[in-house]
Amino acid sequence: MAFIKLTAQSALPATNEAKEFPCGNKTICIANVNGTYSAMDNICLHRGGPLGQGMIEGGKVICPWHGWAWDAKTGVAEQDSRMKVALYPLKIENGEVMIEI
Ligand code: FES
Repeated sequence: MAFIKLTAQSALPATNEAKEFPCGNKTICIANVNGTYSAMDNICLHRGGPLGQGMIEGGKVICPWHGWAWDAKTGVAEQDSRMKVALYPLKIENGEVMIEI
């Protein structure tokens, strides 16, 4: 595991929005919950929907396909607490967004 550059700070999503970013052979969803950023797997564990194309409500990323709600802090699904998307440590340095993956 090492920190790698994901994107520029200026490309991060606006407050209470999510956005997807390519990262090697994966796609990462960045969620901005009231100014706090989370990096999570972009693939919804329900049926594979793109979380980074979803909305944020109450601190959760809402999958655009069937509305499952994923906690941006824990990765846990509201609909099934056994389901959890991976979260990655994120840091911002010199205008660059790094995640540990
Ligand atoms: S694929 Fe995400 S809610 Fe169904």
